[in-house]
Amino acid sequence: MCGIVGYVGNRECADILVDGLKRLEYRGYDSAGIAVFQNGKIKVAKSKGKLVDLEQKMESGEKPHGICGIGHTRWATHGEPSDINSHPHGNKRVTIVHNGIIENYKQIKDFLIAQGYGFESETDTETVAKLLDYYYDGNPIETISKMIDKVNGSYALGILFRDYPDTIYAVRKESPLIIGLGENENFIASDVTPILKHTRKYYLLEHDEIAIINQTGVKVCTTEGEEIEKEEHIADWDIDAAEKGGYEHFMLKEINEQPTAIRTTISPRIQNDLPYLEESGLTFEMLKNYKRLFVVACGTAMHAGLVGKYVIEKLARVEVIVDIASEFRYRNPIISEDDLVILVSQSGETADTIAALKLAKERGATTLAIVNVKGSTIAREADLVIYTHAGPEISVASTKAYSVQLSIMYLLAFELAYAKGAITEERCKELTKQLIDIPEKLSEVLVLKERCQFIASRLVNSESLLYIGRGLDYALSMEGSLKLKEISYIHSESYAAGELKHGTISLVTEDMPVVAVATQSDLLEKTISNVKEVKARGAKVSIICPEDVEIGKDVANHLIKLPKMEDILMPMLAAVPMQYIAYYTAVLKGCDVDQPRNLAKSVTVE
Ligand code: M6R
Repeated sequence: MCGIVGYVGNRECADILVDGLKRLEYRGYDSAGIAVFQNGKIKVAKSKGKLVDLEQKMESGEKPHGICGIGHTRWATHGEPSDINSHPHGNKRVTIVHNGIIENYKQIKDFLIAQGYGFESETDTETVAKLLDYYYDGNPIETISKMIDKVNGSYALGILFRDYPDTIYAVRKESPLIIGLGENENFIASDVTPILKHTRKYYLLEHDEIAIINQTGVKVCTTEGEEIEKEEHIADWDIDAAEKGGYEHFMLKEINEQPTAIRTTISPRIQNDLPYLEESGLTFEMLKNYKRLFVVACGTAMHAGLVGKYVIEKLARVEVIVDIASEFRYRNPIISEDDLVILVSQSGETADTIAALKLAKERGATTLAIVNVKGSTIAREADLVIYTHAGPEISVASTKAYSVQLSIMYLLAFELAYAKGAITEERCKELTKQLIDIPEKLSEVLVLKERCQFIASRLVNSESLLYIGRGLDYALSMEGSLKLKEISYIHSESYAAGELKHGTISLVTEDMPVVAVATQSDLLEKTISNVKEVKARGAKVSIICPEDVEIGKDVANHLIKLPKMEDILMPMLAAVPMQYIAYYTAVLKGCDVDQPRNLAKSVTVE
């Protein structure tokens, strides 16, 4: 949460900083600000609200001019969104931008107040800025090192010292930070998207390494000032991938990118018609030996794990325990060295998932990360990593990241089932072939958008909705429900269809529409019985099912028919109409689809 950028070079930097922040706005949009050296002094412009508000402020005369500066887009943790609480923070000597949480900020603040410091904001960040000022003795490295010793929590910091008007200092612990390496210009950023326009080369900053960045070069050193040789990385994301490309919203673009994202994710992992996950370090032999699997993740990524559980247990007959990362880390889970713990995360920076990963490692399990962002914390800290190749996902609501996570879950399930002897090589090939066909089938599903738009028009005035399903369809309905509530602000719950009559059905009236997912042939009749029960109580029902299923008008008000595939693969197709329904409902309600209220994409706090 929160995005930070920095630029030093030979170009005017305010616009470069704002452009970079636009690409990080998905990380938080409560306020934005920049600080730039102007005639040797640090000049700050900041504003509550989105970047457009900052831009307007700058247009009316507050734009700082200079070639070295830092910027920030905020997701509020300490202190409400306001001008005063906006970053950058500091004083005339030291000014900073910060992503993370300072846990002992109260203690530091009390200490500094006793030293005579005053505070303007309610933020934890201001205490770090003032602490740096307190320690500052003309030597930035020593000053930053002293700060590191004193501060607990997570941080990625961009720092300007007034005495060094051509230099950005940067340091991080837990929160992500990269250093972009350009020609006669260099950058800092929370991820690679702000730098892609300018350079593809970057360094990953490690915990408590201190970077000194100016126009001509970048030096990275330890807290003792010893220089560290850094490995240069090359970003492989396409700049166009981080643009809307003619779509009204990133979410719509990302929904439509799913066939390509899946193809790019699975093709390098198939050899001789069979899944091949060895490049991640996960060998066939290892798969044979795991006794249990855990999938630990948050939100949409956890929902991908739930689908994975059904598929793996059905095919491989290996127990899979799916956990919400924020619960897993505090429930003292029983894990052994024979277990494989899979951490699923688009960003690779989700605080609870990182904590779960650390716990699993402490307990001796093998950890496997399924992650989209290269070089992210989860990818680097797990024993094994499988990258999904969705490209940058900008919309806060996850769509293509979910689909590629599912596709890896399927490959894993097929290979595990084969390794355990639960399916034959032929069957494994047959399943893999069907997965390869998914992108093409998805293109047929993507054209159903008008149907989904129509259903959205029927849902838009509802106050509350139910998503129901059984088995795999129940796991899927959880994602459909999350998508809808997240971006349209309509309350929605997902329920195991058979469980409704044990309480929740009392909520059902004609004002409570129901979306039923019915893709599993063995459960179809049961699900339809449950649909009839809600229909009898007045609910308007939309059903998502395969094309060969006959459902009468007396049962469903609206139908979405999907191309037929083997049941086990149907979730890959059924996710799309649910994404569309959520999207069009939010659009019809006039919601900010890509940046829903109170949310941020990368949840780097507990
Ligand atoms: O980056 P991660 O995949 O770890 O993020 C986990 C959740 O915050 C995320 O999946 C969230 O639920 C989605 N953005 C919702 O659409």
